[in-house]
Amino acid sequence: MANRQRYEAGQDLLSPNRNFAPLTSEVDEQGLLNVGGCKLSSLAKRYGTPLYVLDETTIRAACRAYKDALIKHYPGPSLALYASKANSSLALSCVVASEGLGLDAVSEGELLTALKGGVPTNQIVLHGNNKSDQELLLAYENGIRIVVDNQHDIDRLSQLVKPGKRAAELMLRFTPGIECHTHEYIRTGHLDSKFGFDLDQLESILIQLKGESWARLSGLHAHIGSQIFELEPHKDLTGVMVDALILAREIGHPIEDLNLGGGLGIRYLESDDPPSIEDWVKVISNGVKVACESKNIDLPRLLCEPGRSLIANAGITIYTLGSRKEIPGLRTYVSVDGGMSDNPRPITYQSSYTACLVDRPFDRAAEKVTIAGKHCESGDILLKDLSLPFSKSGEFFAVFGTGAYNSSMGSNYNRIPRPAGILVKDGQSDLIQRREQPEDLLQYDILPVRLIELG
Ligand SMILES: Cc1ncc(COP(=O)(O)O)c(C=O)c1O
Repeated sequence: MANRQRYEAGQDLLSPNRNFAPLTSEVDEQGLLNVGGCKLSSLAKRYGTPLYVLDETTIRAACRAYKDALIKHYPGPSLALYASKANSSLALSCVVASEGLGLDAVSEGELLTALKGGVPTNQIVLHGNNKSDQELLLAYENGIRIVVDNQHDIDRLSQLVKPGKRAAELMLRFTPGIECHTHEYIRTGHLDSKFGFDLDQLESILIQLKGESWARLSGLHAHIGSQIFELEPHKDLTGVMVDALILAREIGHPIEDLNLGGGLGIRYLESDDPPSIEDWVKVISNGVKVACESKNIDLPRLLCEPGRSLIANAGITIYTLGSRKEIPGLRTYVSVDGGMSDNPRPITYQSSYTACLVDRPFDRAAEKVTIAGKHCESGDILLKDLSLPFSKSGEFFAVFGTGAYNSSMGSNYNRIPRPAGILVKDGQSDLIQRREQPEDLLQYDILPVRLIELG
């Protein structure tokens, strides 16, 4: 091979979510796959497999795509918040904060990761449909905005914020009657969702909160789903949100922020064609702007909370191929050294991915194989019927698009340790998550003396 060349044909460098591979993916002069200027097989040898690799250039490009599009298309103030449930770590908190993004957290663990990663407290919001007192207090004491999800939040906060103390900064989450979890969407009066207040409860909750001296409600929030390829649902959402904003201001709340959640889809497969980050931002920006202008009200600050579209395509997981089982006329299974514990999406959502051999990414496919995980579960299949060159045990194998909802949704099923995670940039690799060791998994086990004595 004469020169280095881009791995993914026709990459959209301005919108990472429209590529299955990280923006820096190239095949070098020896025909080997590189990301962030690093040879993936060298990384696999150095750090072991399975290995989560995140490309910093791609993450920063996605952050800038959101920021720049908001500045370009929205005339008022704006802020993109990284939905850290997609992938939470100190390093990621630090990278998104350095790009000027805020962060959304849903637990004490995600809050601590954001705080210790350097995200300014006034740019963090706390979500959750069953927040503990500890989580509420951690947020309140640090001046972090709390997204009130239900009456339980209101009841607990009214007890936790002591009379005469600073009011808690709040947003209110409601279900806007737009349901969108697949490529279809519906508008309904009531949604069967565990999150947020129903639209027809909104007025009474707003009135209730107006009477609470411990509460300062300054924002409204809605999130309609994930991996969404259509723009129409978010356009509809802007209208519902601006109506809610008018209502809340009429009741007397100083609403400054409208938070439209996340949801923009990404390219997992070559056939996927999601909108660009700019097109998505343009739709929500125009929607809010036009609705506010037509009702003659001041523009709120526009917030959004992208998770998947910010981080998924920066990620690759490298595995080592192991055993092979051929069932003549039916199927060939090739197993990897990870699976559902490092990527639960295929078994949970039947999600599909793009993948290749790390050191032979352009070799012609010669057989169809099913890539199986190593867990004791028949459904632990990472990729079904993948066209691949004939492969050997010991070869490295890369799965693209694993930056979101893999590490964060992983488990220790079968007592399999979690993989290491690294961040790559300009030929440098940094360990951002140490590989768990089997002994680590025993650290919270206790063997009662009584059982030892029983022998
Ligand atoms: C409240 C909230 N905000 C943001 C997100 C991020 O969504 P996505 O990863 O689809 O952008 C989610 C995901 O479930 C969510 O629940």
